[in-house]
Amino acid sequence: MSEADDLRQLGNVLHTRVFGRAHEHHETLASTNDRAAAWLRDGGPHGLVVTADAQTAGRGRNGRVWNSPPGHNLYVSLGLRVGSARRDLSAVGLAVGLALYEGLGAIPGLGLKWPNDLMIGDRKLAGILCESRWGTDVELVVGFGLNVRREGIDPGLADVAIALDDLDVHEGRVPLLARLLAALQARLDGFLIMGFDGMRDAYAQANLQIGTRVRVTSGAEVFEGTALGIEESGALRVQTETGERVVHAADVTRAR
Ligand code: BTN
Repeated sequence: MSEADDLRQLGNVLHTRVFGRAHEHHETLASTNDRAAAWLRDGGPHGLVVTADAQTAGRGRNGRVWNSPPGHNLYVSLGLRVGSARRDLSAVGLAVGLALYEGLGAIPGLGLKWPNDLMIGDRKLAGILCESRWGTDVELVVGFGLNVRREGIDPGLADVAIALDDLDVHEGRVPLLARLLAALQARLDGFLIMGFDGMRDAYAQANLQIGTRVRVTSGAEVFEGTALGIEESGALRVQTETGERVVHAADVTRAR
């Protein structure tokens, strides 16, 4: 593995103040999110980062599996300690999506699918899973998986997943992650002080669905409409034939 791909080198290129300054890299973990949560529980610092070359039980949103083969992708979890005063964390995943979008830089066609998938057209480049444990303070784990190399994508997912390689972006995982952590530090520092509202316009501009017809699946309910915009809370506003709906949690895909 080249030095630029060897995540144990992260500390040498990091340019953040806090995020990633405490870093553990593992060859294999069940899930980086589990390890980051355990480290926080044991007193690990705000901004800790856990990476792995492979995961044996990588988790996606809504109980899905996140396919995590060795060596070709980024599997990253960031552990945050959030003061108890900051209770409206529901939009943190949107702030993370925006940060990754900005950190990736100008990639033609790149955009966000609500709430926080990074997409090129209908194919997914990265996904985010935020999990929290509430006590006196909140221990928040922000996990993301980013497809870096084509070899790291299960052939069965070739129609729905895309890697940076496919987009002619050939960058080592180490400088890439250092840049993403800097973007995360900038957006999450802002989010934890001021909430989501200050980045709502930037998020809406990066979102690929606003102004388009969408299909919303929320539990057993499915409906279609036009995505209108994002609420201050991060919820998605959808205009249906029978009126406007505000969507807090759902899968939102392109209406066919
Ligand atoms: C999704 O789009 O469904 C979210 C995928 C999140 C995957 C990442 S990989 C690193 C971290 N560890 C996990 O077990 N899941 C997240």
